[in-house]
Amino acid sequence: MKKIEALKTVMLTEITKVNSLAEIETLKIKYLGKKGEIQGLMQEMRHLSNEERPQFGALVNALKNEVETLITQKVDEFIQAEVLNQINAEHIDITLPGQNLEVGNQHPLTIVENEICELFESMGYAVVDGPEVELDLYNFERANIPENHPAREMQDTFFIDVERLLRTHTTAIQTRVLEAEAENLPIKVICPGKTYRRDEDDATHSHQFIQIEGLLIDENIKMTDLKGTLEVLVKNVFGSDQEIRLRPSYFQFTEPSVEVDVTCFNCKGSGCSVCKQTGWIELLGAGMVHPHVLEMAGIDSKKYSGFAFGIGVDRAVMLKYGVNDIRSLYTNDTRLLSQFKRFD
Ligand code: DAH
Repeated sequence: MKKIEALKTVMLTEITKVNSLAEIETLKIKYLGKKGEIQGLMQEMRHLSNEERPQFGALVNALKNEVETLITQKVDEFIQAEVLNQINAEHIDITLPGQNLEVGNQHPLTIVENEICELFESMGYAVVDGPEVELDLYNFERANIPENHPAREMQDTFFIDVERLLRTHTTAIQTRVLEAEAENLPIKVICPGKTYRRDEDDATHSHQFIQIEGLLIDENIKMTDLKGTLEVLVKNVFGSDQEIRLRPSYFQFTEPSVEVDVTCFNCKGSGCSVCKQTGWIELLGAGMVHPHVLEMAGIDSKKYSGFAFGIGVDRAVMLKYGVNDIRSLYTNDTRLLSQFKRFD
């Protein structure tokens, strides 16, 4: 009996001291296993007398029950603690601020280029591209600017070799289209593209810029068709309250030629320093395609006529959004670019 009491004391203190599930499992085997200590006590019963045995048996059983209950309790405690630990470890703090996803913007040059092209597409024009490394033939000759003509000096050119150059204007696409579609009239195309000139970069000049060329060739096309088309262009891209004005000008590839002005963006026409008190701002060049340009492409200029225009996209962006240095359109400063709303 004393032995049982002593064992019980040892067992209960040992059980209260365990620190882990593994330790309690070991104790469980040590006490309650087949070869465990309580089983050992049972074995000793055979040395007892018949009178002593029931009392001893009852005590051992009571001990067994008590130890079993305590061990089960401990096991539960450890399992619960482990589950809690796991929950804490996997806890997600939903109050932390999320990661900011930066949404990109279209570049303002792309925005305006798309606006203009989409407008003309909606009027049945096809968008046509051409090579940036261009032949002298299409950039100058076919635009009625022969070799050694002083008009070439207006467009300082990056030459690659005697025949090839970086196109100085999208009029090179125009002359290509005229030749390619000579047998396939009428022609209605809008031609965006990069253009290059050997200019010193400053606030209003960039050695690389973007133009869009418009070209329409059909029977009976008149100056009034050009004017109406340009009005649609200006009102759509710059605002329905914008007016246009045509001034006589000179280009080798058009006759007559005009310079197209729009209502000053700054003063809305009343006159200010931006428009030199005229109320007008120069926007683009245009004209009726020169008969010789049509003939060189193989088009009968007696039967067909048409208009063309060339707009500088950089200039259009600067006027539309009040950007005062063309170079800022090419430095990819996100402080400028992020001010433009996503287009699509
Ligand atoms: N090619 C001219 C330039 O770059 C712009 C231009 C003027 C294009 C009149 C045209 C036009 O198609 O008719 O300065």
